Amino acid sequence: MGYFPILRPRRLRLTKNIRDIVAETKLSVDDFILPLFVREGISEPEPIPSMPGQHRYPVDKIVNAVQEALELGVKAFILFGVVPEVHKDHSGKYAYDPKGPVPKAVKLIRKELGWEPIIFTDVCICGYTSHGHCGIPIEKRGRKLIDNDSTLKVIAKMAVTHAEAGADFVAPSGMMDGMVKAIREALDDEGYTEVGIMSYAVKYASGFYGPFREAASSAPRFGDRRSYQMDPRNALEALKEAGLDVEEGADILMVKPALAYLDVIRLVKEAFPQYPLAAYNVSGEYSMVKAAAEKGWIDEKLVVFEILTAIKRAGADLILSYHALDVAKWLKEGYNPF
Ligand code: PBG
Repeated sequence: MGYFPILRPRRLRLTKNIRDIVAETKLSVDDFILPLFVREGISEPEPIPSMPGQHRYPVDKIVNAVQEALELGVKAFILFGVVPEVHKDHSGKYAYDPKGPVPKAVKLIRKELGWEPIIFTDVCICGYTSHGHCGIPIEKRGRKLIDNDSTLKVIAKMAVTHAEAGADFVAPSGMMDGMVKAIREALDDEGYTEVGIMSYAVKYASGFYGPFREAASSAPRFGDRRSYQMDPRNALEALKEAGLDVEEGADILMVKPALAYLDVIRLVKEAFPQYPLAAYNVSGEYSMVKAAAEKGWIDEKLVVFEILTAIKRAGADLILSYHALDVAKWLKEGYNPF
C-alpha cells in the first residue's frame, strides 16, 4: 500500500561540489605541525636518505626553513636536535646545554621571526645519550634497567632550557612515568607558567620509527624501547596514559604513530574531548608512501590526502607530519582529490 522509495545516499555524492559541501572532514593548513631536524656541525641542509624530501638543517639555516613554511601558511613546528657523538654521554647532559642545537635554533627563530611561528621542542634524551635510550640505564639487582626518576631530572632541565630559549610548547617523548608533572613543576619553578606541554602521552613501541632514528642518530645501541613505550597490543592502556598526563598538567595530548592507531586516536578523543589531540604521522609512515610513490605504485598526492584526512576523521585536531609542506602547497593550489 505505502510508497517505499529506494533510499538514495548517492544523491549526496553526485558532483564534486555537492561532495564538498557535505564533507565531514576537511584538511586545513592549520592542522599541521612540521617536524624539523637541527644538526650541529654542518653548513648546508643535508638530505635524509630514508626520508626523501626531508633535511637536517644547520642551526643558522633553520630560520629560512621556518620562513618558507610560514609563507605557505604552516604556523607550527617541532624541533629535534641532532648532535655529534662527542656530545653524547651516559645521562644525556648536553640535552640541557643552552649551546645545543635546539636552544640555539629557537633563539635565532625568535630573533629573526619573533613569536609568529609556534615552536614546539621535542624533549627526550635519546639523541644525546651514548646508548641511545630515552632514559638513563642503571644496574639494579643484577640486570640493566632504564631508570625513571633520574631521567626525570634531566628532561625537566632540558624543558627549562628550551623554555628559556623561547619555546611555546615543550613536547616530552620519552615515555617516562611522571614526565609531565616533573616538567610542569620545573617550568613553573623557573617562572615559565606560559610555556605549554604537548605530551607524547600515548606512544607505542613501533617499527615505524626506523627512518627517524637514522635521521636523528638516536637508535638504542642495546635492547629496545619496550620497557617504556607502549605495547601495540593495548588500546585501553592509552586511556590510563592519557588520563595521567591530563592529571599531571598536559595541555595537548598526542597519540603516536597515527595510521596503525586510528582506533586509539578515536578512543582518546572521545575520553578527553576537551583536550586538543595531536597525532604523529611518523617517519616510517611517510617513507612508505614516498617509496611506493617513487616506484609509481600509488598516486602520492591522493594517498597523502587520504591518510591525513583519515587521521583527522579519527579525531586528531593536530597532525605532526613530514608531508605538511607538500600539503600546504597542494592546498594553496586548490588540490582536492575527493
Ligand atoms: C624520541 C622520538 C622518536 C620519535 C619522535 N621522538 C623516536 C623514538 O622514540 O625512537 C619518532 C618520530 C618519527 O618516527 O617520525 N624519543
